Amino acid sequence: MYKRDLVSITDYSLDELEDLFKLADDIEEHPRRYKSSCNNLKLATLFYEPSTRTRLSHESAMIELGGNVIGFSDAKASSASKGETVSDTMKVMSCFADIIAIRHNLEGTAMVAAEASSVPVINAGDGGHSHPTQTLADLYTIRKNFGRLNNLKIGFCGDLKYGRTVHSLIEALLRYENVEFVLIAPEELALPKGLKNLITDSGAKYEEVSSLEDALPELDILYMTRIQKERFTDLAVYDRLAGVYVLDKEKMERAKEKMIVMHPLPRVDEISTDVDDDPRIQFFQQVMCGKIVRRALILDLIERGSKEPIKRYDDIDEAEVGETCKCSNPKCITHFERGLKMRFKQGKGGKLLCAYCDSKIVEE
Ligand code: CP
Repeated sequence: MYKRDLVSITDYSLDELEDLFKLADDIEEHPRRYKSSCNNLKLATLFYEPSTRTRLSHESAMIELGGNVIGFSDAKASSASKGETVSDTMKVMSCFADIIAIRHNLEGTAMVAAEASSVPVINAGDGGHSHPTQTLADLYTIRKNFGRLNNLKIGFCGDLKYGRTVHSLIEALLRYENVEFVLIAPEELALPKGLKNLITDSGAKYEEVSSLEDALPELDILYMTRIQKERFTDLAVYDRLAGVYVLDKEKMERAKEKMIVMHPLPRVDEISTDVDDDPRIQFFQQVMCGKIVRRALILDLIERGSKEPIKRYDDIDEAEVGETCKCSNPKCITHFERGLKMRFKQGKGGKLLCAYCDSKIVEE
């Protein structure tokens, strides 16, 4: 058996995801049965970026399974501040913990971490790239509300450029039948082209609109997002875009009676608190769903393993590609991690992509 990680939501097949949700249901129904499942086991939470929900949700999940928790919540308090690489940190942490959840500001870090660690690794968010455990929470919330993950129209609103939860959830929903996407964002924060191509290539439909009011009446789900100030290099652009979308009581009147509003949280000013008592507001239930499904994930990763290693890159030689070819994403870990072997994968039409962060490979 090979160790199993959750680097991307596609690491789990649809059948495996359904098994995970059923396990989550069972743990929720019979928590006492599982209260010692992780006795004498340790989860390490390595958070190089701030978090409230994701870190404490993993920790809470592990404690409820009878396990223990170690880790850090500030990279400055770790040896990363002395220049230790992610790979070295993971090799060290594999000696201390049975499973590791890592969050990092650099895109592609989760894959680097999974490759270096000898214990299962959970991607708790890598820059603006992906956030698969939030996606588990989101899918589980949708499944609880609608009893299905297909035949849905979902609107994503706000920061679709940097919103990693949006990227992971779109990737996940593309695998279900007849899911339509409405992308509500200003031009500067539009969904990256690669993801739009992915939607089209999967045979799904999307439309890009600028008005939340106009889009609302058609939606089954509205997925609001915060404009991610920390990802902007020019704060003047952030200031211009902040507050561009605000969901309030008046706008909610335009939505279907059975529509739900989701948000990965934290919220800033994009959802007015005057809608919090509306039963269609689901973001606090989403947090609870996150803890429940993370209990199932921890258990699954520790207990099950994988019959085959997950293939995250194609067999393309670094020398063949040439030393001058680099990842086009300046926030990719390949530009920072010493001694890291470049990994490539073939995109649509033979385009060469960075296997760590999915960005294009370009010649410098
Ligand atoms: N949803 C989410 O990732 O929240 P935190 O940043 O608080 O972990």
